[in-house]
Amino acid sequence: MNETKLLSGFSKLTKEQKIQLIASFSDHPEAVEAELKLFWNNDPLVQKQFDEFSENTLTNYYFPYGIVPNVLINGKMYMVPMVIEESSVIAAASKSAKYWAGKGGFHSEVISTTKVGQVHFIWDGNYRDLKTHFPQLKLLLLARTSVLTANMEARGGGVLDMELVDMTSELADYYQLKVTFDTRDSMGANFINSCLEEYAIGLREFVKESGIFDSTTLRVIMSILSNYTPECLVKTWVECDVAEFDDVDDALTAEEFVWKFEKAVSIANVDVHRAATHNKGIFNGIDSVALATGNDFRAIEACGHAWASRSGKYRSLSEVKIENGRFYFSLTIPMAIGTVGGLTSLHPMARFSLQLLHNPGAPELMQIASTMGLANNFSAIKSLTTKGIQLGHMKMHLLNILNVYKATEEEKARAVEFFKIHKVSHNVVASFMQSIRNGKPIN
Ligand code: MEV
Repeated sequence: MNETKLLSGFSKLTKEQKIQLIASFSDHPEAVEAELKLFWNNDPLVQKQFDEFSENTLTNYYFPYGIVPNVLINGKMYMVPMVIEESSVIAAASKSAKYWAGKGGFHSEVISTTKVGQVHFIWDGNYRDLKTHFPQLKLLLLARTSVLTANMEARGGGVLDMELVDMTSELADYYQLKVTFDTRDSMGANFINSCLEEYAIGLREFVKESGIFDSTTLRVIMSILSNYTPECLVKTWVECDVAEFDDVDDALTAEEFVWKFEKAVSIANVDVHRAATHNKGIFNGIDSVALATGNDFRAIEACGHAWASRSGKYRSLSEVKIENGRFYFSLTIPMAIGTVGGLTSLHPMARFSLQLLHNPGAPELMQIASTMGLANNFSAIKSLTTKGIQLGHMKMHLLNILNVYKATEEEKARAVEFFKIHKVSHNVVASFMQSIRNGKPIN
């Protein structure tokens, strides 16, 4: 394809035409078309629904959907669905879940559930005048959204408050209407954005029609929810006596293990390179639950990383405390997640996931997702500070490498046996495959 030539009208083509066009750029168009169609759902109605989630859809992109059993949270047992392509995440979470289930399980509490949205505007008039009239403006603005908020209010949520925020110390003439919301069990993005756009219109009208202000002093820049929700916060933790780690590793006593574990978390607290990896491991757990339940994992990640930087430095999201011979390991994280609306009820697997989780409300799902974050983080640090991460990782990755070599079931079984006592690496797996296919297996 000529790199500089723009494709125009692509979105207007039918799906079939889009596929043909994309396939035509390949040397094997028929094979490409067949490959793309291979992943279509057999039921055209289901496929249509998937096509309509997004734009310019050609096919579906599969990810594995797995289950972490034995997740005990606040005394309630869950089987947690996870969607993730990375091998060992589900295995790590499962190990951790089983380990902690035998020690009272995970404990979790939702601290707050407030969401935020902002109307950002430039005001080069007199701020004091605007501030004086803000109580009147606020009443007018809140009244404007009564139709939009009625349903949410009936569910116990709605608009909580609206503030006028002076941001001029950061940017000349910059102000905000900062609005807080309770969106109950929905993530609430559409609800919040609809309210905010209405407030922006109301703000413009107020300035124009009140006769108090010069309307040229106001320029609304944008109205949008904030994905930073530090007041939509959940805390999850595990705890046990230090002595209970006695059998955690052949080479370490319980005290040595806890000492190393605590140091690993401290390192993630002071070193940004380690912190990013440490927190990535936490999001392995959280994102996979978010995906399985049809939630916006990008919003959850953006929020978590912003929160990890709240001190002015990017730090570990989890914390360790050792007190009176007890080990406490916790994760406190903001998370705007929903169990109604959006994809949660449209995507058949998201619906199934929520059923499997006994149809939780959003606060309960915050607890479940943060638990999986903590579970993965515990497993990662435990492996890193004992046997290292590669042993488990490469064992799990073995099947992926074998699939690259199109290994048969029998070859896989032989490889699994062989790599019980040999270190897995791509090269060694390649040599092993070659050797058994040549009839001269290596030992
Ligand atoms: C890999 O996806 C995640 C880890 O790197 C996390 C960590 O290092 O803590 C294992």
